[in-house]
Amino acid sequence: MNPDIRNDATALKGRSGQMDIDRIKADFPILKQPVNGHRLVYLDNAATSQKPKQVIDAIVKYYNESNANIHRGLHTLAEKATSAYENVRVHAARFIGGVDNSEVIFTSGTTESINTIARTWGEKNIRSGDEIVITEMEHHANLVPWLVLSQNTGATLRRISLTPDGQLDLTNINDIITARTRLVAVAHMSNVLGTINPVADIAELAHRRGAIVLVDGAQAAPHMPVDIKQTGADFYAFSAHKMLGPTGVGVLWGRKTLLEDIPPFTTGGEMIREVRFDRVTWNDVPHKFEAGTPNIAGVIAFDRALSYLEELGMENIRSHEIELSGYAINRLLELDGIEIQGPLDPHLRGGAISFTDAKIHPHDISTFLDSRGIAIRAGHHCAQPLMRTMGKVATARASLYIYNDRMDIDALIDALKETRRYFGV
Ligand code: ALA
Repeated sequence: MNPDIRNDATALKGRSGQMDIDRIKADFPILKQPVNGHRLVYLDNAATSQKPKQVIDAIVKYYNESNANIHRGLHTLAEKATSAYENVRVHAARFIGGVDNSEVIFTSGTTESINTIARTWGEKNIRSGDEIVITEMEHHANLVPWLVLSQNTGATLRRISLTPDGQLDLTNINDIITARTRLVAVAHMSNVLGTINPVADIAELAHRRGAIVLVDGAQAAPHMPVDIKQTGADFYAFSAHKMLGPTGVGVLWGRKTLLEDIPPFTTGGEMIREVRFDRVTWNDVPHKFEAGTPNIAGVIAFDRALSYLEELGMENIRSHEIELSGYAINRLLELDGIEIQGPLDPHLRGGAISFTDAKIHPHDISTFLDSRGIAIRAGHHCAQPLMRTMGKVATARASLYIYNDRMDIDALIDALKETRRYFGV
C-alpha cells in the first residue's frame, strides 16, 4: 500500500482506536462550505456520500498523468491505466472478503448490476410458471427489473412481507420460497427502514429449494463489514458513490460458474474474443460483461475510497453508526408527533433513519431544514410499494456516515423544533 495513504488514514483514528470525526470531516472539502449561511450538515448519505480529497485528487491525478484507454493500447500510458484499473478489481475483491478477482465486474452502479442479471441470467432461466421472490422493502432498482422480467416471461413475482417494526416477516417463508422459486432478490440493508436483513438464512433456504439469490448491497457495503461468501449470495451488487467513491461506478459480484454460463448484457468492444461478419465469441469473465470504455477514472479513484474505509476499519464504521443511530433515534423520539419507520434498536439497522411528523409534510421538513444548512432526503426514496405498505405518501430521511457526529444530530433536532414553531405546530 502507498505509505501516504497509510499515514493519512492512521491519523483518522484517535489513540483509543475510535474514529476521529473532526479529522475525518477535514478530509471532505465540500463540508467546509456554508449552505444558506449555515454550517453544512450533510445527512443524505443513503442517496450518495461525499468524497474525501484523496478520492478527488486521484481523479485529477489520473487525468493529469495516466489518461488512456485500457486493455487496448501497447503504449506506456495505456499500460499504466490498464494496470491501475485492474489493481482496483483485485482491491475490490479483497474488500468483499477475498473473492476471485475474475468474479468482480465493474458496472455503472447497482441499478445496472441488477439489470445485468435480470436481462441475462433471468432471460436465460426464467419461464412461465416460475416464481421470483422479492421483499416489500426493495428499492425500485431491485424490484422493477424483476417485475418486468416476470411480465415478459409469465413468471410470478412473490414477496416477503414486513413486521410492524419494518423487519422481514419470515413466519411463512416456507410458503413463499418453494420448489417453484428460481430466484430470491433481497436488500442487505433497506434504504428506507435501515433494516439489516438475515440474507444468509434466506439464501440457505433458497438454495435448499434450488433457487439462486441476488443481494442488493448498495446500503450495506458502505456501512458494515461484508464478507460475500458469508452472505450466501450468488450475485451481490453495490455502488462506489455511496462509499466515498465517484458516481458511475458499481460492482457486480457473481459466482464464476454462473457468470460463465450466462450471455453478456451489453455487446460491443472489449467483451469479445473473436468477431467475424457472421459470428462472434465472447471474452472470459469478467471482461465479457464490460463492453465499451468503462469509467476508468472513476474506478481508479474508487481504489482510494476503499483504502480510506479500510484504514478506518469497517467494524469501527459500523460501531460508530450504531452509536450515532441510537443517539439520533432517541433524540427524534423526544419530539412529540414524530414516528420512526423501521427498527428502533440500532443493532438491527443501519443509519438510514426515516421519520414522519404527524402535522408537517416531509417535503416541508426537508425544505425548512435546507434553509438551516441541513441536507436530508424527503419523498418515496425509490420505494413506492413500500410507502403504500406503510400507508405513507412520503417520509423524511436522515442518513448517516463516517463524518457525522452528535453535533450534526443536535443541529437536526434543533432545526426540527424550529420547523414546528415555523409551521405553528
Ligand atoms: N438509493 C438512493 C436513496 O435511497 C438514491 O436515496
